[in-house]
Amino acid sequence: MTATRFHGLTLLTHPGHVMTPRPATEALVDEALRWLDGPAQIADVGTGSGAVAVALAQAAPEAEIWATDVSPAAAALARANVQSHGLSDRVHVRQGDLLGPVPPELDLIVANLPYLPQPHRALYPDLVDEPVAAVFAGGDGLGPYRRLLAAGADRLAPDGALVLQIHRTIVAGSRNELASVSEEVERIAAEQTPALAVA
Ligand SMILES: C[S@@+](CC[C@H](N)C(=O)[O-])C[C@H]1O[C@@H](n2cnc3c(N)ncnc32)[C@H](O)[C@@H]1O
Repeated sequence: MTATRFHGLTLLTHPGHVMTPRPATEALVDEALRWLDGPAQIADVGTGSGAVAVALAQAAPEAEIWATDVSPAAAALARANVQSHGLSDRVHVRQGDLLGPVPPELDLIVANLPYLPQPHRALYPDLVDEPVAAVFAGGDGLGPYRRLLAAGADRLAPDGALVLQIHRTIVAGSRNELASVSEEVERIAAEQTPALAVA
């Protein structure tokens, strides 16, 4: 295990096993915080090291956060980071798919999921040390986000919102704006080229 800094916090990392959080993802935290006002049920989907969940919990003391990841290594690391920051009472790490292991109604869904196309793997030598399943997905790479958008429509509270990171772009919208969030995801998918750097 090693450590890194993220959003002013020191986090444990597990290089080669769990995606090391990138500075660009601090913008995801900052945008998510703009949608918060008081108590909130939040899902951090694809939590990896737990970086986003821990940073949100530190900055939003009334938030309860459900951090999910399909990777057992990620869930273990996220739990370690949650515990080391004394947040186990408000940040619940669950291993599982997307929103499967979280409560039915959420005020905010935050995600930095895999978005790079598998066929582009050789074009990202800077990612050679990251777990493949953490950064690459089949087809055009945006399948996980399409599934999350479909699931989120039923899970967000009426005044809930969703904040996503794709490359260095943060896409956000209220529940009423999910159609335009989907359009933006499709626009990015259409533009996705090997020249885009990973965030
Ligand atoms: C790009 S990494 C980002 C990790 C962390 N959110 C961050 O910003 O540092 C994506 C994470 O999503 C997880 N993941 C991939 N597919 C998933 C799914 N269907 N449900 C939950 N987590 C998933 C991966 O295991 C990986 O840890």
